Amino acid sequence: MCGIVGYVGPQPALQVVVDGLARLEYRGYDSAGIAVLSGGRLQTEKRAGKLANLREALEAAPPEADGIGIGHTRWATHGAPTDVNAHPHVDNDRRVAVIHNGIIENFAALRVELEERGCKFSSETDTEVAAHLLGEELKDRGDGDLAAAMRSVCRRLEGAFTLVATAVDDPGLIVAARRNSPLVVGRGDGENFLASDVAAFIAHTRDAIELGQDQVVELRAEEVRVTDYDGRPAPVREYHVDWDASAAEKGGYEYFMLKEIVEQPRALADTLLGRVAADGTLTLDEMRLTPADLREISKIVIIACGTSYHAGMIAKYAVEHWCRIPCEVEVASEFRYRDPILDHRTLVIAISQSGESMDTLMAVRYAREQGARVLAICNVNGSTIPRESDAVLYTHAGPEVGVAATKTFLTQLAACYLVGLYLAQVRGHKFGDEINTVIGQLAHMPEQVEKVLDTVDPVRALARSLADADTVLFLGRHVGYPVAMEGALKLKELAYMHAEAFAAGELKHGPIALIEDGLPVVVVVPSREGRSVLHDKIVSNIQEIRARGARTVVIAEEGDEAVRPFADELVEIPAVPTLLQPIVSTVPLQVFACELALAKGNDVDQPRNLAKSVTVE
Ligand code: F6R
Repeated sequence: MCGIVGYVGPQPALQVVVDGLARLEYRGYDSAGIAVLSGGRLQTEKRAGKLANLREALEAAPPEADGIGIGHTRWATHGAPTDVNAHPHVDNDRRVAVIHNGIIENFAALRVELEERGCKFSSETDTEVAAHLLGEELKDRGDGDLAAAMRSVCRRLEGAFTLVATAVDDPGLIVAARRNSPLVVGRGDGENFLASDVAAFIAHTRDAIELGQDQVVELRAEEVRVTDYDGRPAPVREYHVDWDASAAEKGGYEYFMLKEIVEQPRALADTLLGRVAADGTLTLDEMRLTPADLREISKIVIIACGTSYHAGMIAKYAVEHWCRIPCEVEVASEFRYRDPILDHRTLVIAISQSGESMDTLMAVRYAREQGARVLAICNVNGSTIPRESDAVLYTHAGPEVGVAATKTFLTQLAACYLVGLYLAQVRGHKFGDEINTVIGQLAHMPEQVEKVLDTVDPVRALARSLADADTVLFLGRHVGYPVAMEGALKLKELAYMHAEAFAAGELKHGPIALIEDGLPVVVVVPSREGRSVLHDKIVSNIQEIRARGARTVVIAEEGDEAVRPFADELVEIPAVPTLLQPIVSTVPLQVFACELALAKGNDVDQPRNLAKSVTVE
């Protein structure tokens, strides 16, 4: 949420910063702004709306820049998305410019104090207090030491923040600080970068430094210095990013989302790579939980938000079946407020694509305080949630730029299955044969997704035909229920339509009253393998809604003749084991939502009001 870029070096700073912002726009697109230094003068430009508006303003009146610049793309929290509320913010003397990601919770009290000191505020944002505080601190100190000023300002702030500042007193320096919000440094040759995400500087360098909690970084062209809030040198972790700029580009597709849907077989294969041996043994050593640790577990609690929560719901079916360990799933924002029962024998699995969702991070901290062990499933190397967890299993989906999660969802499923199967293996589960069979089948899932993608075109035509519908309902049973929820979420966020999912068995307890003539209802039919009772029950559910006028869109495995007579539209998917079916049944729903949103003229990469990583609670 909010994207931040900083650059110091010999390249045209404005260009580097604006290009970086383009790669971070998925983090927020309510407004964008830059600050550059030139000839001892601070110049800023900012515009409400997407980055294109800022680019236009910069082209009309290009500011000069002497190799130093900072930029911001905003997801509004305090104050409407207007030009004035856009970042950067400056102090009254225009000596310091600040950009910010997060929320300064005590900003109201600080604002009153600053106003009493004579500071004039021009925006409604919490960020502007940081600009004035820095300006006042620099004035009081009189030595131009921006890093020292930043340290003392940070000690006064409550909440979550990444702050980045540049000041006229020291025009070769950018200073940044972080607490609970992301910030990484990119190390170049005679130049250095700062950003909320490596994507911003990946075109220039793949060498990164991960910053820890409550650290301040001073960035010069030739030097990176990291200290704690007391000014003591702080330990940092340097790493090399294992993907390059092309992975974060559209590669000929009109939208990132379209590309990311197509990348799913590769993403799945990369996530499974090296983890499944030819004899079916799973190796998850890198997650740092020993088989002895895993044998001690008496309960699993999965916490996550949004799409990641749906992955968690599916994991529950698999984990309980394969491992016979009780498994709860909860949305992270509710978890710590209900006094959950946890102890050292509880394994908490925190699923987060970004590794930054504040709700999930806070739930992780809470769980660890209660003595539980936390395993993160995450797609972003070195992000906050895995860093604060006891163990991590990374998904290898590569960068996901489209705001709606697609390939990362499928890889989260793969990671959850791996954890479940591994637990079953190390705990010596009685269904040994089944576990070995499923491991073999999991390894073939990338090919199965490829098959879905090869046959999914009719779904696009179907979606376009439903562009004028007001409501679409989704039904599923067993693992098909969370898949239905994921289908509804995709449609809401991309097409801005009313979409709701129900467990098909619940229909008769109320929601069936919603069914009326022509109402599109998407039904995810369970596989016929093993649980054919459920399959038969959903066939009855389809008949019930069709008898009441629903237009049925049925997603069922190929050769499922039982559903054909009751399907107004039939979408066939490969027959795979029941528990793995979500990997194939989700894909047509992603395509459906994406195509329907495109038919409505929506931007599927940047849906309204959303941001890719939600770093506020
Ligand atoms: C939906 C979507 C969101 C995220 C949610 C959690 O397409 O992307 O619902 O799944 O905000 O984000 P992470 O997984 O980064 O914690």
